[in-house]
Amino acid sequence: MAGRLEGKAAIVTGAATGIGEAIAHKFAREGAKVVVAGLPTDPVDDVVQAIKRHGGMAEAFLGDLADEIDAQACIALALDAFGGLDILINNAGVFPEIAECQDHSIELFDYIVRNNIRSAFVMTRFALPHLQRSRGVVISTGSEAGEMGEPTAAPYGGSKGFIHAFMRGVAYEQGKYGVRALCVCPGPVDTAWTHKETGPMNAQMEKQTLAGTILGRRGTPEEIANVFAFAASDEASVMTGALIFADGGTTIAKGGPGEMAQSFVKEQPTPTLDLKHSHDGLKGKPIENRMH
Ligand SMILES: NC(=O)c1ccc[n+]([C@@H]2O[C@H](COP(=O)([O-])OP(=O)(O)OC[C@H]3O[C@@H](n4cnc5c(N)ncnc54)[C@H](O)[C@@H]3O)[C@@H](O)[C@H]2O)c1
Repeated sequence: MAGRLEGKAAIVTGAATGIGEAIAHKFAREGAKVVVAGLPTDPVDDVVQAIKRHGGMAEAFLGDLADEIDAQACIALALDAFGGLDILINNAGVFPEIAECQDHSIELFDYIVRNNIRSAFVMTRFALPHLQRSRGVVISTGSEAGEMGEPTAAPYGGSKGFIHAFMRGVAYEQGKYGVRALCVCPGPVDTAWTHKETGPMNAQMEKQTLAGTILGRRGTPEEIANVFAFAASDEASVMTGALIFADGGTTIAKGGPGEMAQSFVKEQPTPTLDLKHSHDGLKGKPIENRMH
């Protein structure tokens, strides 16, 4: 049976580790030819070799995709190696710091903007003429943090909010050329970022992050890659401009911040109005609790 991405040429950025590695493998298994793109320090070649061992087609691109020269070279590689470009996956990103906003490093803020925002913009900009030709699709990795904000990583959450609105703008403007644009928005995923040993989270944040999902666990990179594979395929031909949440329910479940509030924050302000009936609204009406 043909794969759902049979014959398509794809670029996956940030494809040597984490979610990107899974997308590259999944796309290759579904029949796509994949440019595995990552920083020169990333294990890009290793992923390419692994895909080839499994019978897939892959090419390595090493470079900084926030740099417009490297971005263009990456796209040129796809055109040279595969004869065109059908799918761009903007997945590269960084999550460098946990800090309240008043303490957040300005240098790392710029680092977030460059790697999360600029990389997606320049890659999209230079890929679009080719995606217009192929009536292709661009999908960026958003985040539930882009929708809900991310306490102690507010600039990171803001960078993902940009990605959501950017993809929607691209979807609207490029639809007339037959190009689709989407965001896949994960919740916590089982990569370096959500483990205290390998990312900036401490033990409390790690625990709170998982408790904030409905499923009580991280998504796996493969579960997220499955969503990308569908969204990139012709089966999703009616989908454009959508934010596809694959977040274990975090977006609707995120809770518990009141537990962290200091006691003065929890104090109600002294009333100034002569209110007598604040709690009378349900008097005489049916009320029930079946949770006992
Ligand atoms: N892990 C999570 O819980 C989570 C949740 C929501 C969204 N995301 C998003 O998923 C994507 C992947 O995250 P991950 O968890 O797999 O992390 P990861 O660190 O394993 O993957 C990110 C990859 O992008 C590469 N990269 C960064 N800047 C680059 C640049 N300028 N040029 C080329 N490569 C670059 C990194 O080197 C790395 O290999 C990110 O966009 C992230 O915002 C992750």
